[in-house]
Amino acid sequence: MVTRIIVDSEKELAATGSELIVSEAERCASLKGGFSIALSGGKTPRPMHGLLSKEPFLSEMPWDKTDFFWVDERCVPIQNRQSNYGNAKRDFLDKAPVRPGNVHPMPGEMDPETGAREYGEFLIDFFSLSEGQIPVFDLIFLGIGEDGHTASLFPGHDVLDEKERPAAALTGGEPPLDRITLTLPVINRAKKVAFMVSGKSKAGIIKKLFGPNSHDLPALKVRPSDGELVWLLDSDAVSLIE
Ligand code: 6PG
Repeated sequence: MVTRIIVDSEKELAATGSELIVSEAERCASLKGGFSIALSGGKTPRPMHGLLSKEPFLSEMPWDKTDFFWVDERCVPIQNRQSNYGNAKRDFLDKAPVRPGNVHPMPGEMDPETGAREYGEFLIDFFSLSEGQIPVFDLIFLGIGEDGHTASLFPGHDVLDEKERPAAALTGGEPPLDRITLTLPVINRAKKVAFMVSGKSKAGIIKKLFGPNSHDLPALKVRPSDGELVWLLDSDAVSLIE
């Protein structure tokens, strides 16, 4: 199932995203006692992350039942403003009653290949899987780059063809950085995947993605096998298709 939610402003987008996270977390926590979410980096989700550390979300979120993971990470020190985990820590994790043991950053401080392998092994262990099985997240939040990348899955990269490993290492982005990313098999097994897209700078890629899909763009490869796909967009992002 694909749901498209269009709101007027970036502020409203952040609130809608926070409401989605909290409602999914409450639902999963009461249904099965836990909630697993993988967060993206970049600028778009940061207003939403900031709202999670404020009322009403601060009180509503079942922090003790939530495990935080990352969709991707740039291999830089946490203090670096490029660090996705570092930014999430600054935006809300350090301001909310999260259990330190429930926060699972990608190891961006070590050799990327080793970090990707270790994170993949951690996911297999966390989700009590055997080798070759695919971790299933309750919710994965994704952004989109102007080139149609998502996570750290960039156009033309071999990692797009990864069928087994849950996480992989690559060099990409502007400026090119060593990165670790979840792979498509994991993203497409999630119970819910939410793209959050904001701003006029993304209107061109949204027009391409929602247009006749002649483009072999990484974001178009996100097709949850039996999960729900939600598009959260503001009016600027859809200004070329609405
Ligand atoms: C990353 C992100 C990446 C991001 C897009 C959009 O670590 O770079 O996970 O996939 O979502 O590049 O980034 P903005 O939100 O900054 O436009």
